[in-house]
Amino acid sequence: MKTHKVFLTRKIPQSAIDYLKKHNIDLELNEEDRVLTKDEILRGVKGKDGLICLLTDTIDAEIMEAAGDSLKIIATYAVGYNNIDVVAATKRKLPVTNTPGVLTDTTADLAFALLMSISRKIVESDKFTRAGEFKGWGPLLQLGNDIYQKTIGIVGCGRIGSAVAERAAKGFQMKVLYSDTRRHEELEKKLNMEYCSLEKLLKESDYISIHVPLTDKTKHLIGEKELLMMKPSTYLINTSRGAVIDEQALVRVLKDKHIAGAALDVYEHEPALAPGLAELDNIIITAHIGSATIETRTKMGMIAVENLLAGLAGKVPPNCVNPEIYE
Ligand code: GLV
Ligand code: GLV
Repeated sequence: MKTHKVFLTRKIPQSAIDYLKKHNIDLELNEEDRVLTKDEILRGVKGKDGLICLLTDTIDAEIMEAAGDSLKIIATYAVGYNNIDVVAATKRKLPVTNTPGVLTDTTADLAFALLMSISRKIVESDKFTRAGEFKGWGPLLQLGNDIYQKTIGIVGCGRIGSAVAERAAKGFQMKVLYSDTRRHEELEKKLNMEYCSLEKLLKESDYISIHVPLTDKTKHLIGEKELLMMKPSTYLINTSRGAVIDEQALVRVLKDKHIAGAALDVYEHEPALAPGLAELDNIIITAHIGSATIETRTKMGMIAVENLLAGLAGKVPPNCVNPEIYE
């Protein structure tokens, strides 16, 4: 059996690395727990047959060029793949794969955790109690807002958006509005959810959760105009990609208390935060941990490896995002 040369840009769960090593792979792995520089990736991919990358690596045409003709597959360890120039890969007939499915519920759980935490002031209350400021139960102490039976707006009702809608409708008897490029009639019936325009969703929802992928069309989908359509009592949650929201506009809108609050797991210029964001008290900011559970990250690793192995063997990988290359 031919040995394939593979470059892995950062450590992923060991079980996935072990699985990879069982397959006659000559693995070059970044042993340091940090994002590689572009130069390091350019050097790393040279002459490799396969690349496993992360959402923090920008994989552009230059990197594909540097890898050369030996490169047979780019397997990213994420569901989102806006960091990869898929058009350039498609031109080179190079399959790009992601890890959908296994992180759906895990990410939906985080979206809900953020929704509940911002609405019920969990982080604020924890800080307050730790700081020794809790002097006893108070009739007006840290009053949040109800969640059950309120209206949630799901922007982008794909796998993750649907899983959030299901939690909202079934677990919390919420009214669910959704906007999307297409209708999901089965799910509408199952969850009694309503398809509507983004404008209606923004105007009527008590909670808005973003679940669209980042593309040219969804960049700044939620800008100042859209933020100002929301009610002063609305909470915005984002677990998708930061740049879907105009983060600077969000800072202004939150500062002026035009909306009640925001809970964000992703940022426009990650890991940098928009100036002023971290100083606001009506937000919760987490560190892009949507899929960060031991179980899910392990599954994502196994799927990334399966995609890679299929690509190396010249087979159509299970999660190819540009299947048109095989037509
Ligand atoms: C995480 O953000 C992912 O796209 O997997
Ligand atoms: C991604 O997994 C999505 O479809 O929401």
